[in-house]
Amino acid sequence: MNDPRQRISVLRDEINRHNHSYYVLNSPTISDFDFDMMLKELETLEKQYPEFDDPLSPTHRVGSDINRQFDQAPHIHPMLSLGNTYSIDEVDEFVHRTHQALDGQDFDIIGEMKYDGTSISLIYEKGRLVRAVTRGDGEKGDVVTDNIKTIRSIPLQLTGSGWPEMFEIRGEVLLPWEAFDRLNAERAYQEEPIFANPRNAASGTLKLLNPAQVAHRGLDAYFYYMLGENLPADNHYDNMQAARSWGFKVAPIMSVMHSISEVDEFIRHWDTARKELPVATDGLVFKVNSLRQQLNLGYTAKSPRWAIAYKFPAERALTQLRFVSFEVGRTGVITPVANLEPVQLSGTIVKRASLHNADIIQSLDIHDGDIVYVEKGGEIIPKITGVDTSAREAGAKTVTFVSTCPACGSLLQRIEGEAAWICPNKYGCPPQIVGRIEHFVGRRMMNIDGIGEETAQLLYDSGLVTDIADLYDLTMPQLMSLDRFAETSARRVLQGIDDSRNVPFERLLFALSIPFVGETGAKKLARATLDIDTLMSMTAEQLTAIDDIGSKIAESITEYFSCESNRNIIERLRKAGLQMSMPSEDLQRSDILQGKTIVISGTFIHNSRDRYKELIEQNGGRNSGSISRKTDYLLAGDNMGPAKLEKATSLGIQIIDEDTFLSMINK
Ligand code: IVH
Repeated sequence: MNDPRQRISVLRDEINRHNHSYYVLNSPTISDFDFDMMLKELETLEKQYPEFDDPLSPTHRVGSDINRQFDQAPHIHPMLSLGNTYSIDEVDEFVHRTHQALDGQDFDIIGEMKYDGTSISLIYEKGRLVRAVTRGDGEKGDVVTDNIKTIRSIPLQLTGSGWPEMFEIRGEVLLPWEAFDRLNAERAYQEEPIFANPRNAASGTLKLLNPAQVAHRGLDAYFYYMLGENLPADNHYDNMQAARSWGFKVAPIMSVMHSISEVDEFIRHWDTARKELPVATDGLVFKVNSLRQQLNLGYTAKSPRWAIAYKFPAERALTQLRFVSFEVGRTGVITPVANLEPVQLSGTIVKRASLHNADIIQSLDIHDGDIVYVEKGGEIIPKITGVDTSAREAGAKTVTFVSTCPACGSLLQRIEGEAAWICPNKYGCPPQIVGRIEHFVGRRMMNIDGIGEETAQLLYDSGLVTDIADLYDLTMPQLMSLDRFAETSARRVLQGIDDSRNVPFERLLFALSIPFVGETGAKKLARATLDIDTLMSMTAEQLTAIDDIGSKIAESITEYFSCESNRNIIERLRKAGLQMSMPSEDLQRSDILQGKTIVISGTFIHNSRDRYKELIEQNGGRNSGSISRKTDYLLAGDNMGPAKLEKATSLGIQIIDEDTFLSMINK
C-alpha cells in the first residue's frame, strides 16, 4: 500500500479493533508481537507524516511526559451520589415506594454491581472523546482527559453507529485487583507507602500529573450511565447495550428484574459471587429502567429517586484497645477515638477507630484494654461495633467520657436532644479556630491553594491568623518569615487568597462555619436571601420560611450573627472584597406567576416534577400539593388521578399542560 494516509487510517482502525477485543472483550485476536509491530509501524508513519497526526490516534495512549496541573470544568448535569442502604428490607421498601410514586405503573428494575473506584464523566462529540472530568464537588471536576486516554478500554473514537451528536457517559475508573496487587508490590519494594484499597489507588492514579505514569498503572473503566439528548433508546438497559456496541466496556452484569423476590435473589447471589470478580465492588445498584419513569421520579437534593445502592455488609476484625483519646473538631464537638493495636481490615491496617459519642461509649460498656470488634462500612473511618467481654481482664476500668475540653479546659456542654458534647469556648479554643480556618480554605469553600491542615496550624501558632478575616491581611514578608514558606509557596498562597475574592456568595456562606449550615443549606440560603445584609437582618422565624431551613438551623444562624466578633469578621471580609451577594443572573427569573398557586399532577415529558416546582418558585409562584379554592392552575401531566381532575373541574380551576406552562414562563 503506497498511500501513507490510507495505511495510517487502516492501522489505526485495526489497532483500535484489537484494543477493543483485548481490553473490552477480554479475548485477544492477535499476538502481542504482531500488535506491537502494527503499533510501531503506525508510530513510524506518524513521525514521518506529521500532517496526518490525530490526538486520538492509539499511539497517543501511552501518554506524554508533560507535567501540569489540571484545569477544572463544570459538569453539564451535576454528578449526584446514590441513596444507599445496608438492608434488604430497605431495598424492598424502595421498590414499594417507587411503585407508589409511579401511581401503580409497572416498571423494570435493572440490577448492577456497584463498582468501587472513582467516577468519571466522559463527553463525546461526533463520536470522539473530547473531555474527561472527575466527579470533583459534583458540580465541577478536574479535567483529566490525557490520563483517561491512557485507559485502553476507553474508546477514543466510537465504533458502530447511532450515537448522538453529543452525549455524556459516566462510569467508574478502577484498578483491577491484579494491577492493584502488582502496584502495591512495586511500591513496597521501592519503600513507598502502599495504597489502602483499589479505590484510593484508582483515584490517586487518575490525579497523577504524568500520563505516562498513569498508563503504566493499568487502570480500567466500566460504564453505567448515559446522559444527553437523542439517546438511542428510552431506557437505561438498551442505552447501555448501545454504548457497548460503540466500544465501551459496559458493566457486564445487568439484570432486568420485575419483582422484589428477583431483587432479593440478586442480592443474595452477588453477596458472595462478587468475591470472584476481577475488580472491587462495594455493593449493588438498582435502577428504574425507563427514562421517562426516571424523569417523573426525579431527584432529591443529593440523589436520584429512581435508583438505590445496596451496600454489602462490612467486614470486621478483632483487636485490642490501647487507649481512648478525645479530639476537638471545628464545631467544638468532642469525638472519642479508640486507639488500637494495628489490625488488618479489608485491605487496610487500622490503628484508630471512631467511638462517635458518649452514648455509644456507654452502650458499648467499653473498658481499658478490651478486645473490640472493628468494622469498616461505607465510611472512611472505621468504627468499634462491639466488645468481646469474655476476654476482659479482671479489674479493667470503664472508659469514661471527659467532662472538660482536652484542648482548652472549658467545661463541656451537651446540646439539648443531641448525643454530642461540645466545648463552648468557640472563639478561644485553638483546635476550633484552626478547624474553621482549615474549613474556610477548603476546596469546596474558598478553595485557597497551599493551605492545608499543617499550614493552618502554623499560621495560627505564629499569631498571624487567628480568624478567617486575618487571611486577607497576610503579606509576603509575613509568610516568608515562617519556616515552611519559600517564595513560590508564599506567592501561591497569596494568589489563592486573592482569587478567593471571586468565590460565589453561596460558597462563602458555607465557608463561614455557621453551625448546621452545610453546603446545600448555604446554597438555599444564598438563593433565598440574595445577599448577606438581608440574611443578617432576618429573624429565626423568617428564616424557617425558606425551603429546608428548620428551626435548629435558623436559630444557629441568628445566634451566629448576633455575636459581635462574627459581625466584625463579616465586615472585614466585605472590606477585603469578598462576594457578599448573588450575581444577578442567578436572581429570580421573573415575577410572572406572582400570587399564583399551582398544583402539579401526573407525569411529564420535558421536565421532572421537581424542576417544575423550581420553575414555579423562580417565577414568583407557589407550588401546593392539593387542590383547593385557592388554586389558580393545575399543571397536568399524563396519568393524572381522575379524582384530582374532577375536583379541579368542579372548582373551575384552569388546567394547563406542560407546553402551555413553559410558554407562560418564557414569555
Ligand atoms: S449510577 C445519579 N451505577 O456510586 C447517579 N453508580 O454513590 C448515577 N457507582 O458516583 C450513578 N457503580 O461513582 C451508578 N453501577 C453503578 C455504579 C455507580 C458504582 C458509583 C458512582 C457514583 C456512586 C454513587
